[in-house]
Amino acid sequence: MAALITTPRLIAVGGGALAELPGLMARLGLSRPLIVTDPYIAQCGTLDRATALLDRAQIPWSVFSDTVTDPTTEVIDTGVALLREGNFDSLVGIGGGSSIDTAKGISVLFRNGGQIRDYKVPAEIPEVGPPVIAIPTTAGTGSEVTRFTVVTDTETDEKVLIAGLACCPSAAIVDYELTLTMPLRLTADTGIDSLTHAIEAYVSRRASPFTDGLAKNAMGLIARNIRAACAEPENRAAREAMMLGATTAGMAFSNASVALVHGMSRPIGAFFHVPHGLSNAMLLPEITAFSAPAALERYADCARAMGVAEEGEGSQAAVARLLDELRRLNEDLAVPSPRAYGIERACYDELLPVMAAQALASGSPANNPRVPTADEIIELYRRVYE
Ligand SMILES: [Fe+2]
Repeated sequence: MAALITTPRLIAVGGGALAELPGLMARLGLSRPLIVTDPYIAQCGTLDRATALLDRAQIPWSVFSDTVTDPTTEVIDTGVALLREGNFDSLVGIGGGSSIDTAKGISVLFRNGGQIRDYKVPAEIPEVGPPVIAIPTTAGTGSEVTRFTVVTDTETDEKVLIAGLACCPSAAIVDYELTLTMPLRLTADTGIDSLTHAIEAYVSRRASPFTDGLAKNAMGLIARNIRAACAEPENRAAREAMMLGATTAGMAFSNASVALVHGMSRPIGAFFHVPHGLSNAMLLPEITAFSAPAALERYADCARAMGVAEEGEGSQAAVARLLDELRRLNEDLAVPSPRAYGIERACYDELLPVMAAQALASGSPANNPRVPTADEIIELYRRVYE
């Protein structure tokens, strides 16, 4: 069966790539953007740099800077209303995955109407909306190149996954210099998110030779640089590697899908407001231990790509090294358990059946090498709690 690959039409990559914004817009025939960002980017100087470039190119712009971490249906609706009021032809999402996901959600609802939950996976999005140009300021979600957006439905507290060509940006600007000021926690959480993308894309039942190369490349870049990027924020080589790793991991999982870690991570994020990368990190070692027996060779390849196992080493030994490394990485990056994060046991236990049901409904666990039952997911949630 042929693999169907979705990517942006244009990607500007490298230090200083932000300067390509007016040029990218011209190539795509776009001239009236609504910029979608968050209050921090709006005041830290990054937005000013982008708008100065647009001013110099005499491109008129407006800003919607009220995006929130883990975008909500309410924020998307506000953005859609703003887009309708003005004479815009495009959206420029600047910020972390949340700002970019918000821009995507606005584009989808602007063109197709209805509500985000109408397009919940596996529903199809009928039409592609106004083009989105994505400019990530974190090295993590890969949202700048993916055909996904995740929006929290405020009525149900569910993190809704929507997917399709309509969610893939038309262009991306991947400029690692925008990540030099990222604080430690954000660097660690977003970095582990991108490592999870690469591993899950590689072990996914929907992986293809095309995505395998991207995923292995990303694993090598991230595993070799995540500690340096955390310890030395101004380490440009480490920041560049993390940014490249995040984007290539994004391309890999956009076309191979994520699996059980992400499926189980979204409910933790939605119910307990744990940052996305952190809830992935809480799960990654245990879920890998659960899944590895079903795809030993693939997980051994991950260990080799990450540089924690030798090329000639047997698969069983390589997987043991992978598990060691994932646990050690969590220790080194001070990833708490759900308990240490402050999630109450009683509340957690009570929600487990709903969390398991939401995890399964997202479809991601079905891509896992070992597909769990609801009871097994509940047991895994219990195992990671301590
Ligand atoms: Fe993710």
